[in-house]
Amino acid sequence: MPGTFITFEGIDGSGKSTQLRLLNNFLRVNGWNPLVTREPGGTPVGLRLRAALLDATEEVDPLTELLVFAADRAQHVRRVIRPALAAGQVVISDRYADATIAYQGGGRGFPPELISEIVQLATEGLKPDLTLLFDVSIEESTHRTTRRSTGKNSANKAGRDRLDIEDAAFHTRVREAYLVIASAEPERVKIVDASGPLEQTHERVKDVVVSFLRSRM
Ligand code: TMP
Repeated sequence: MPGTFITFEGIDGSGKSTQLRLLNNFLRVNGWNPLVTREPGGTPVGLRLRAALLDATEEVDPLTELLVFAADRAQHVRRVIRPALAAGQVVISDRYADATIAYQGGGRGFPPELISEIVQLATEGLKPDLTLLFDVSIEESTHRTTRRSTGKNSANKAGRDRLDIEDAAFHTRVREAYLVIASAEPERVKIVDASGPLEQTHERVKDVVVSFLRSRM
C-alpha cells in the first residue's frame, strides 16, 4: 500500500480525540493533508451503528457488540481506508482494531483467538503502520469523562456513553490490554503519556508523527 495508516488509541478520557484534532490542524498547515476518520462511525452506515453501540439506554449483548464493531470496521476498511491508502494518502483513524482487542478482548473477556479471527475478517489483514497509545491513569480518565458529560463547556451534554459508564475494573482491564499490545509490538505502537497538559502531549504527538512521516518519504 503506498499510503500511510496511523491510528490513535487509548481508554475513554485519554484525550486522544482532542490530540487528533490538534495534530490534524498542524499537519494541514504544514501541507500533509491527511484523511482523518474514526471508529465506530467512519462511514454513513457506521454512524448509524455508532449511535446504536454507544446508546447508554440500549441493552447490547457482548457478542452483538463485538460483531457490530467488526461490521463497522469492515465497511470502514473497504470503503474509506483502503481506497485512501491506495491513492497514497496519510490516513489517521481515531481508534481501529486494537480497540476491539482491548475492549472486547480485555474488557469483556472474549478469548484472544476469537478476537483475532474477527479482527482478521473485518480488516482483511490491514494493520496500521504506526499507532499512538495515549496512556493515562483510570482516576484521571474517569475524572475527564465525568467532567466532559457534566461540565459547563461540555460537548456531550447527553451524558456518558454505554462504554464510558462501565466500572473502573472494566477500564483497568482495557488499559492493561492496550499496554500488552504496546509491549508486544513496540515498533508499531508508541506510548504517549497523556497525563500532562494538552500542549505538552501535542508536542510529543507532533514529534512522533512527523518523524515517522519523514522516515517514509
Ligand atoms: P470514542 O469515544 O473514542 O469515539 O469510542 C467509542 C467507544 O467505543 C469507546 O468507549 C471505545 C469503544 N470501542 C470498542 O469497545 N471497541 C471497538 O472496536 C471500538 C472501535 C470502540
